[in-house]
This record gives sequence, C-alpha cells and structure tokens, in this order.
Amino acid sequence: SGQELRSEFQNLGTLTENISLCFLVIMFPNGRIVGEKIFMTSGYEGNFDSLKQRCSQAGGQLASPRNAAENAAIQQIVVLYNKSVFLGINDIQTEGRFTYLNGENIVYSNWQTREPNNDKGIEDCVEVYSSGKWNDKSCGEKRLIVCEF
Ligand SMILES: *[C@@H]1O[C@H](CO)[C@@H](O)[C@H](O)[C@H]1NC(C)=O
Ligand SMILES: *[C@@H]1O[C@H](CO)[C@@H](O)[C@H](O)[C@H]1NC(C)=O
Repeated sequence: SGQELRSEFQNLGTLTENISLCFLVIMFPNGRIVGEKIFMTSGYEGNFDSLKQRCSQAGGQLASPRNAAENAAIQQIVVLYNKSVFLGINDIQTEGRFTYLNGENIVYSNWQTREPNNDKGIEDCVEVYSSGKWNDKSCGEKRLIVCEF
C-alpha cells in the first residue's frame, strides 16, 4: 500500500543518514556526536573570519553550542587538542549582545567568572577553555577550528 511504501522510503532515508553518519565518524575520529549535531575539528588554527569561512566551505558552520551537552562535546575537543576554540558566537554587531552567526541572540552561555569583559574594548569573539568555560577574545587571535554539521 501507499502507507507501506512511504514507510519503506522513510526507513531508507534513515538508513542512508545512518550510513552517512558512520562514514563521518570513521573518516573523522576527531568528532563528537550530540543529538543530531556532529562537532568536528581538522586541527586547523586561524582567526575568527578564517575559521568561519572554512566551516562554511565544508558545508557546516563554526560550532555554536545551544546547550550544556553540546558545549561539553566542544570542551572534549579542546582537551584532546589542548587548544582553545572559537565559537560561532560574537558581539561584533552590537557590543554586549552576543549572537549566533545568523544574528539570533544566544540561548545558552557558559561564561567564566567576570567574563565577558570586553578587555581593551576589542573582545568580540568567544573562546572555550579546557574547563568548558567561555571568555570573550579578540577575533584576530588564532584558535582551533571546530565545525558543526
Ligand atoms: C538509524 O539509527 C537509529 C539510532 O541512531 C535507529 O534507531 C534506527 O533504527 C536506524 N535506522 C535504520 C533504518 O537503520
Ligand atoms: C594545555 O595544557 C596545559 C598543561 O596541562 C594546561 O595548563 C592548559 O590549560 C592547557 N590549555 C588548553 C587550552 O587546554
């Protein structure tokens, strides 16, 4: 019946997605899966603009954690590489109003005590420490790339 056919196709869709997911995990062991998101690094380090561009070229975007579980996945990559990462979050548009790359206000944050402090008035990007805590940092600094797909 049409119903069965539809359900067959849905299964096929899920199976294809599962296989793609397995492929990604095997090809990129430096990734973490949280819910429907995959966080991945290539080990590249660069400034905010260059990280943002590379993630977008890879078909993803710079890691933008929306909850504690996603932040923990990014933290694990920071610990693994012993390098802080830049998030896809900044207050370039309006000082003090942190948004995702699409301009939406952030729904989750994990600031270190006394951060963000916009030190010297030049800190518009967000780095993640090995503690998982966030610090605002100049976007021109170089940090480890983590993209989400
Ligand atoms: C795909 O994986 C999910 C678990 O991640 C599983 O529940 C589902 O049955 C799988 N689908 C197929 C078609 O293998
Ligand atoms: C790197 O490792 C050193 C020594 O354990 C530690 O003090 C430092 O906080 C680590 N840096 C990051 C970004 O994880």
